[in-house]
Amino acid sequence: MSSASRLRDGPPAGARADWSINQDWTAYSDAEHRVWTQLYDRQAEQLPGRACDAFLEGLEALDLGRGGIPELERLNRELGRLTGWRVVMVPGLVPDEVFFEHLAQRRFPAGRFIRDSAHLDYLEQPDIFHDVFGHVPMLADPVFADYMQAYGKGGLRALHLDQLQHLARLYWYTVEFGLMQTPAGLRIYGAGIVSSHAETAFALDDPSPNRLGFELERVMRTPYRIDDFQQLYFVIPSLQALRAATLRDFASVYRRVSHAADLPIEAVLPNDEVIARGTQAYARTRSAAVQ
Ligand code: PHE
Ligand code: CO
Repeated sequence: MSSASRLRDGPPAGARADWSINQDWTAYSDAEHRVWTQLYDRQAEQLPGRACDAFLEGLEALDLGRGGIPELERLNRELGRLTGWRVVMVPGLVPDEVFFEHLAQRRFPAGRFIRDSAHLDYLEQPDIFHDVFGHVPMLADPVFADYMQAYGKGGLRALHLDQLQHLARLYWYTVEFGLMQTPAGLRIYGAGIVSSHAETAFALDDPSPNRLGFELERVMRTPYRIDDFQQLYFVIPSLQALRAATLRDFASVYRRVSHAADLPIEAVLPNDEVIARGTQAYARTRSAAVQ
């Protein structure tokens, strides 16, 4: 799940003040459960050797493949035991402050609905497959669990400092589309990649995108595209390194990036650590829409 700043109204009818709703698990149809199982089976087969160990271990520990859409009550018992996180259902995109407040309390807001069986590769609003399959396994990792909570607290600060655009890029390039360098090779930890069959292959193997070493200010200066495969992935050396790079107070970082120009998505700069220089061949065939 992510946030939508344009939604400034209160929660919709039937939702609580924090925008959460009941999962009402028994109301899912057999067809909806089958969509989950189809998506799960496809990713569970593709991800070994491609997703990072933390993701694969979380997936296993949370038993998300026991058949059908997971029941949150059971999932939350397991997740709570591992890292103290839990998942709450929301009707769709929620306002930024609501989203950050949940994260700061170790609650992950997830959409209740699931995509249609005719659109398994659907990309629009995050559904329960993206949110739970994509995001929740990483929340079973203690280091990543702390990072996400710190991000929530940082989000509340960034709102007051009017720095959300910069902080949102950090979320995008780590939580959603992050790659990790491991002794066994490049691995995925970003939820937007692991929940997408096509981008899982693209992010690791396609010659088109640039793959650059993660550097906080570089990330904050780089816009991202929301409508297609990424043109650029940032690579962290480890989850510990990501946490260490984001522990410091961002006030001075925000000051510097606010006075620096945004960078073109396809740029490779002299100071970049180039893991793989992309051809950008795929992006050239597509129209650009960046944020
Ligand atoms: N250190 C950040 C700040 O001072 C908070 C943060 C931590 C943001 C981790 C993102 C990730 O605002
Ligand atoms: Co997401």
